[in-house]
Amino acid sequence: MERMKVNGVELSFEHHGRGTPVLLVHGFPLSSALWQSVISPLAKRHWVIAPDLRGMGQSEATADASMETYADDLSGLLDGLGSKEPVALVGLSMGGYIAFEFFRRNRDRVRAMVLADTRAEADTPEAAKARLETAEKVLREGSGVVVDAMTPKLFAKSASKALVEQWRAIMLATKPMGVAAALRAMSARADSTNTLPEIRVPALVLVGEEDAITPPATARTMHAGIAGSQIKLIPDCGHMSPVEKPEQFARICGEFLHGAIGS
Ligand code: MLT
Repeated sequence: MERMKVNGVELSFEHHGRGTPVLLVHGFPLSSALWQSVISPLAKRHWVIAPDLRGMGQSEATADASMETYADDLSGLLDGLGSKEPVALVGLSMGGYIAFEFFRRNRDRVRAMVLADTRAEADTPEAAKARLETAEKVLREGSGVVVDAMTPKLFAKSASKALVEQWRAIMLATKPMGVAAALRAMSARADSTNTLPEIRVPALVLVGEEDAITPPATARTMHAGIAGSQIKLIPDCGHMSPVEKPEQFARICGEFLHGAIGS
């Protein structure tokens, strides 16, 4: 992993390959390890950049964050890397929420979008309230509060115990400050439903058929909202598609990117 100071925060990231930049944005409370098996296949044709979001993985945490700060961290990282051409943006779950914000702030910097296991809608008032309460609890009791609640919903039934345990450990290692900041940021995020018709770059909506957090019905709504978008469902797969079905994820994503942006 490399490190770069962006917007006053030390971010950790890796990047591989050459060509059109592909920016991989992980979900909550995960890390760039989410992309561990898809980076190499994608990096055969593209310049693949995978950061740890602030407060997650090995990136520095701040007490506050928002979809805007996460999106600005990404554009700052691209600036720091000297990436001038528009990127293909791949966001999973919270990474998708950030991708919508990045798109609204930097339209001319987005060349294609992959929206994986995510949703356009904002939190309901009840969900937002629950997130704020959970954020307080995480600061008092630790990241395990979120990990225990999320783990049963993350994977398809067939996922191996080893995979589930690997991700429990990664999530448990996430600093409570980073987890709480992300919970508050998600609770306050804008509704991106009205952004969907404004996405006129090639877009792929991808979802695990057994995703319990952002289910296929949610993906279909996004697909219907983005003219000309493609949708792919991955069978026997939950919310963690890049680690549950890495080969399918890399193949579907690679074929889409090849068609959308060439190499
Ligand atoms: C994620 O995977 O990023 C989160 O589950 C998203 C969310 O809680 O809305």
